[in-house]
Amino acid sequence: MKRQEFHAAIRAFCLCVVYVNAVCGIGVNWGTIASHPIAPPIVVGMLKDNGINKVKLFDADPWTVTALAGSGIEVVVAVPNDMLHRMASDYGNAKEWVKENVTTHLHDGGVKIKYVAVGNEPFLASYNGSFLGDTFPALKNIQRALDEAGLGETVKATVPHNADVYESPSNQPSDGAFRSDIQKLMTDMVNFLDQHQSPFMVNIYPFLSLYANDHFPFEFSFCDQQGQPLTDGAVQYTNVFDANYDTLVWSLKKAGVPNLKIIVGEVGWPTDGNKNANIDLAKRFYDGFMAKMAKNEGTPLRPGSLDVYLFSLLDEDMKSIAPGMFERHWGIFRYDGKPKFPMDFTGEGQDKLPIGAKGVQYLPKQWCLLKKSVKNLTTVWPHVDYACSISDCSSMELKSSCGDLDSYGRVSYVFNMHFQMQDQDVEVCDFNGMAELVSENASTATCLFPVQIVSSANSIPFHCLPAALVLGILISHLMGRLIPELIHLV
Ligand SMILES: *[C@@H]1O[C@H](CO)[C@@H](O)[C@H](O)[C@H]1NC(C)=O
Ligand SMILES: *[C@@H]1O[C@H](CO)[C@@H](O)[C@H](O)[C@H]1NC(C)=O
Ligand SMILES: *[C@@H]1O[C@H](CO)[C@@H](O)[C@H](O)[C@H]1NC(C)=O
Ligand SMILES: *[C@@H]1O[C@H](CO)[C@@H](O)[C@H](O)[C@H]1NC(C)=O
Repeated sequence: MKRQEFHAAIRAFCLCVVYVNAVCGIGVNWGTIASHPIAPPIVVGMLKDNGINKVKLFDADPWTVTALAGSGIEVVVAVPNDMLHRMASDYGNAKEWVKENVTTHLHDGGVKIKYVAVGNEPFLASYNGSFLGDTFPALKNIQRALDEAGLGETVKATVPHNADVYESPSNQPSDGAFRSDIQKLMTDMVNFLDQHQSPFMVNIYPFLSLYANDHFPFEFSFCDQQGQPLTDGAVQYTNVFDANYDTLVWSLKKAGVPNLKIIVGEVGWPTDGNKNANIDLAKRFYDGFMAKMAKNEGTPLRPGSLDVYLFSLLDEDMKSIAPGMFERHWGIFRYDGKPKFPMDFTGEGQDKLPIGAKGVQYLPKQWCLLKKSVKNLTTVWPHVDYACSISDCSSMELKSSCGDLDSYGRVSYVFNMHFQMQDQDVEVCDFNGMAELVSENASTATCLFPVQIVSSANSIPFHCLPAALVLGILISHLMGRLIPELIHLV
């Protein structure tokens, strides 16, 4: 063995030791619909610190993707729904997309891109069919562009679907089939995926089953076998995740592709914004789920290891709340990269707090509150409604972390959220003279009055981005040279 090979082996060995800490095959979703996103290099550090070696993105933002270069982390890049029409209508657009957002990153020391997600839940019933025409043609064009770029074997295109693309009238998995209004389209699509050895990607949410139906058996949402089992022929299901997954297995079987690989693109539990969204239940869900992952037990119809991306890495305070207030609270980590609760990434009962983001900078320790002297709140409420509409009041929902605040607390909470989201602009903390700045932490025992972080969107002014990218690339090249040399010194 040559010296370099020896060092490569040592490095590979060290990586394995680090990764053994996390359940094999666990990835996370990294969404960025936040007023103050954390800088991508910090997030990548956080993934590495926690032994997470797979990540799924919702676009192909060059700063984010470039930050993953050389990390060894496997990446899913994505074509957002609003670009599907462009990809579908002209092959040239798909070709450009692949060139700019995949091929560019695939150099030595580059990004380990494994999948391209084409759209995100495009057939969701609430989209009223807006993307029905474009999704499959976009998938075909992207896959063809990958093939023609010589990447067809290593990078696969797929479509992340919501679990509402299939259904079972009796709730028994064996009755499962693709939704009748899109059955032909789904059948064609899964056969295309099968021919290209591409996986089927599905998002499964036990929390949403519970949220959507007051009569849903509560215990069945969790993977800790406390519920009344559901019997389907000779098979017993003890949790809705398995039952849902196997409904898909049956649907694929009936569509003629019984062995199509399945990837769970999203699964998780939110921590605020609904009576069932809190840290205790999220912890219960993740504990059961991670233990299941660690045992590699799979589901009754597909035993073995599951390929899964948790939803989600970080809270996102600008997500649409149309589905529910909980939408902004899916993170395993808070908006600032601090962990919310101990997790067991090993699945073996080794509960520990995940390692938080390092190097996040906060704005000054100050809060904007309603003046105590204001006694008549009549003229305050219009300001509150306005401030809520452009900031984030999702934690004030009934039975949420800030649901118990009195009127004074509620107004103050809203004033502060608006102030923080506007980067602590002092002119924002006025509200017709009814607001004041304070330096004493206004948080209560359960309700966090946050101080925002320095947004990565501000920390590098937009016009400097190209320069910063060049610098980043230069540094990573230098590091690429330096690291082997450092190892030689050892
Ligand atoms: C590449 O992806 C980015 C981010 O999603 C997008 O803005 C850009 O338009 C894409 N490039 C092409 C050529 O489509
Ligand atoms: C879908 O239709 C419903 C009811 O007609 C409407 O309220 C909603 O805004 C539509 N959604 C989209 C994405 O077009
Ligand atoms: C509160 O203010 C409103 C509007 O200025 C006024 O109409 C109302 O009478 C006041 N209420 C009390 C209790 O003073
Ligand atoms: C304010 O207090 C809360 C609750 O104790 C804490 O989580 C938060 O970090 C504090 N904020 C600052 C800026 O110190």
